[in-house]
Amino acid sequence: MSVPFVPTPKKVLHRMLSLLELKEDDVLVDPGAGDCRIVIEASRHYGCVSIGIEKLYHLVKMCIERVRRENLQHKVIVAWGDLFKFEYSIATAITLYLGPELNEKLRPKLERELRPGTRVVSHDFEVPGWKPIAVETVDGPDRPRKLYLYKAGVSF
Ligand SMILES: C[S@@+](CC[C@H](N)C(=O)[O-])C[C@H]1O[C@@H](n2cnc3c(N)ncnc32)[C@H](O)[C@@H]1O
Repeated sequence: MSVPFVPTPKKVLHRMLSLLELKEDDVLVDPGAGDCRIVIEASRHYGCVSIGIEKLYHLVKMCIERVRRENLQHKVIVAWGDLFKFEYSIATAITLYLGPELNEKLRPKLERELRPGTRVVSHDFEVPGWKPIAVETVDGPDRPRKLYLYKAGVSF
């Protein structure tokens, strides 16, 4: 089960972040962060702390360079490793773009670790068994994208 790097388009990621209603005291985690575009934009725009977890070394290097370029070293943390080894209780908000199989595999871990009130937004793919509090379609650059918003304690 492997998911390649497919970046979330800018317009779609902005809508994901606004659905999460991020505040400065939030901690956003993006498991499978790719080039860290989501975590960088979240910290840059909303001032929150953001953590990107990515297994591919060349993408992690790219993330570190981008974080430096944006001067966000005090706000963005990049973790090189397996998203299944991370402890998610630190998060108050999560972004997912992982595909149906990884969403299904990650689900029990998120159910165990996320604190009540934590928001999760998933791009294109539902988290099976969770009840979304909002579903939205965003016009992407190439095709429409579905966004699913969940809240721990309400959706699961
Ligand atoms: C579809 S991309 C999404 C990237 C980014 N979140 C975005 O929306 O622009 C999925 C990313 O997850 C990473 N990934 C897949 N499995 C992983 C794992 N077990 N641990 C860490 N990263 C993983 C891939 O390398 C890829 O960069």
